[in-house]
Amino acid sequence: MPKADLVVVANRLPVDRIQDESGQPAWRRSPGGLVTALEQVMQKVDGAWVGWAGKPGLQVDPFDFDGTHLVPVELSEEELEDYYEGFANGTIWPLYHDVIATPVYKRRWWDAYVRVNRRFAEAAAEVVDEGGFVWVQDYQLQLVPQMLRELRPDVIIGYFHHIPFPAYGLYAQLPWRRQVVEGLLGADVIGFQRAADAGNFQRSVRRILRYGTKRESITIPQPDGTARTAIAKPYPISIDAQSFIELAQDPAIRARAVEIREQLGNPSKILLGVDRLDYTKGIRHRLKAFGELLDDGRVEVGDVTLVQVASPSRPGVEAYQELRDEIELTVGRINGDYDTIHHTAIRYLHQGFPREEMVALYLAADVMLVTALRDGMNLVAKEYVAVHADNRGVLVLSEFTGAADELTSALLINPHDIGGMKDTIMRAIEMPAAEQSRRMRSMRRRVLENDVERWGRRFLADLETFRDSRRR
Ligand code: F6P
Repeated sequence: MPKADLVVVANRLPVDRIQDESGQPAWRRSPGGLVTALEQVMQKVDGAWVGWAGKPGLQVDPFDFDGTHLVPVELSEEELEDYYEGFANGTIWPLYHDVIATPVYKRRWWDAYVRVNRRFAEAAAEVVDEGGFVWVQDYQLQLVPQMLRELRPDVIIGYFHHIPFPAYGLYAQLPWRRQVVEGLLGADVIGFQRAADAGNFQRSVRRILRYGTKRESITIPQPDGTARTAIAKPYPISIDAQSFIELAQDPAIRARAVEIREQLGNPSKILLGVDRLDYTKGIRHRLKAFGELLDDGRVEVGDVTLVQVASPSRPGVEAYQELRDEIELTVGRINGDYDTIHHTAIRYLHQGFPREEMVALYLAADVMLVTALRDGMNLVAKEYVAVHADNRGVLVLSEFTGAADELTSALLINPHDIGGMKDTIMRAIEMPAAEQSRRMRSMRRRVLENDVERWGRRFLADLETFRDSRRR
């Protein structure tokens, strides 16, 4: 088997299993942000990608796709429940998002997490070249760096954490807090979205392991009495801004944006929310604010419409099932009270859409509502900004997103403050074109400069530095 100089290890492979026209199983590039983010990096190097093929029990041999060697890791039905739905999305996800939902601590889930992390580490150890790079992605695989270091001490290991890292006071709840921190410290470079996440992680390292930290460096004592250094610092992720700009110039997509407005009955303002259906996204808070604006008579059906795309996510996890029920009840109530034969208050879509349709929606939207209660970054905010080359449109952005650190010219809100959110939505609806333009221009500059290519380059440059100093 050929060895790769750069191996990405992520929970999912960058492809989805589909059926082609003749009904035969085939692979298609998946639409997610992580895949788009790494796509460019991978195509430039001799790369491999280790990940789950997305269906329990599916056995597939490694194969090549679009210039990348893909190495599927198998998960059984039970492992999917205990490792993915259980420990990753029932324990870590809520804990790391400031316990918006209650984390569940189950020893069986932890055991599965350890077992599956080891499988990923072994697969990466098999495929990486002597002295190569392994770049581990996200919270599902926090133990992989340490496991891999034991198997392959010659490789340079990076880990990027796409979601928040919580304050020590919350992190301390985790019964396996020591093992997880040790797992992450197996990496040479540990990347976070925000400076605050890197700071929270370093504090946990100091409190739990008593290791010294100085700015971004962490000193890790070795069994032989020496010490090695790891770095923990922010690398805010971004989007492939250019590809969004190009789509936004496509005449067919522009025509679709006009058509969307017509099909909604030509409201004077379209508000838009685009999220995975997840309790971290603040969809309920947004609906509450919009419902109250209708109750108060500050907005009128027909004049203002809210389009809410809530793409299906983690349907096997109970908290997500409950959230879906609550949201659909709320949407039904608001629409029942306010819809007319011609107009709807909320056009709710529990579906995923291709990127072309998303860009048309962004173009059509006068106001984008990103009201997350906690979010590692939020790429939707950056996508909305990228497509508005005419500098029209208003971004209402929760201060609890990573994106708020960069997009400081957005209308920043605290989504827990419903009254404040209502006033800000009104301000967005009424904002004069000159102010829209001033704010949008400054946000676009930021998104276009710090695109995903730069993110990848910065991270890989730090891995290179480690390799150079190891060689010396
Ligand atoms: O933002 C975190 C994340 O895990 C992404 O990496 C991923 O694209 C998204 O959430 C969807 O998650 P899942 O793989 O659980 O469907």
